[in-house]
Amino acid sequence: MKYGQKILIAGASSDIGSALVKSLCGSGAMVGLHYNTNAASLSEYQDGDRIRKFQKDLASSESCFELVDDFTAWAGGIDGLIQLSGDVRRPVHWEELTDADWQHDLSVNLVMPFFLSQRAISQMKNTGGRIILTSTASAGHGGGASSLAYGTAKAGIECMVKGLARDCAKNNVLVNAVAPGFIFTKFHTEKMKRTKEQLDERAKLIPLNRAGTPEEFADTVLFLLSKGSSYITGQVIAVSGGDWL
Ligand SMILES: NC(=O)c1ccc[n+]([C@@H]2O[C@H](COP(=O)([O-])OP(=O)(O)OC[C@H]3O[C@@H](n4cnc5c(N)ncnc54)[C@H](OP(=O)(O)O)[C@@H]3O)[C@@H](O)[C@H]2O)c1
Repeated sequence: MKYGQKILIAGASSDIGSALVKSLCGSGAMVGLHYNTNAASLSEYQDGDRIRKFQKDLASSESCFELVDDFTAWAGGIDGLIQLSGDVRRPVHWEELTDADWQHDLSVNLVMPFFLSQRAISQMKNTGGRIILTSTASAGHGGGASSLAYGTAKAGIECMVKGLARDCAKNNVLVNAVAPGFIFTKFHTEKMKRTKEQLDERAKLIPLNRAGTPEEFADTVLFLLSKGSSYITGQVIAVSGGDWL
């Protein structure tokens, strides 16, 4: 099978996905660009033979199935699913977390990625394919005090990757995750509400002494889509500048 032919990106409107979207859209692959509320971030891409945008609130298993089905109906199959969608409902200390915070963060960051993967894998069974999910480097280290539900959900992604990889190997479906560390995006400024001083202090804790870029994240995802990673499955690859070592 040829990898990189029919690729669905769930959360293509994310900041971290910007370089990946640009690269895939210029690659000749058929690319499905999913977004929920942020259509503006994809405005430079127009629907055509090779690119199709899909709007969907991934709030239920049905919506995940519809997204995968809409993409495969358009593309005539699916070779790769890249899940970038993720969210923190409220960046509050764990002592303030509510039931609604937990339900939201577990749903967006763990449950919906599962249903996207479940449907995509069901379409890949006869052809093989690639599933690439997104964790976070902090998930293996207890998460953060003000993003504990999110970190716990992402730790679940790392378990899911291993379990799915083991069971789907017989169908040549390779399942991996990328765990970004501190990649410079609006997630940190707007969602987590960190100041420039806080971000500078955070970068100093990283052995490479800086934040990563969406381009560096993209390069790792593209490697996991490529022929060069054909013997890699069940892995979580940190793109973190050595953070947490
Ligand atoms: N930035 C970092 O340093 C960092 C570090 C570790 C992990 N990550 C992970 O990388 C991924 C992207 O992060 P980012 O920093 O680029 O954040 P972002 O810009 O806020 O992107 C979040 C993405 O998730 C989508 N999304 C959120 N809720 C959704 C829902 N209910 N239904 C459908 N889509 C939904 C958003 O769609 P719309 O915007 O269109 O609504 C957007 O595409 C996330 O999984 C995040 O956990 C990022």
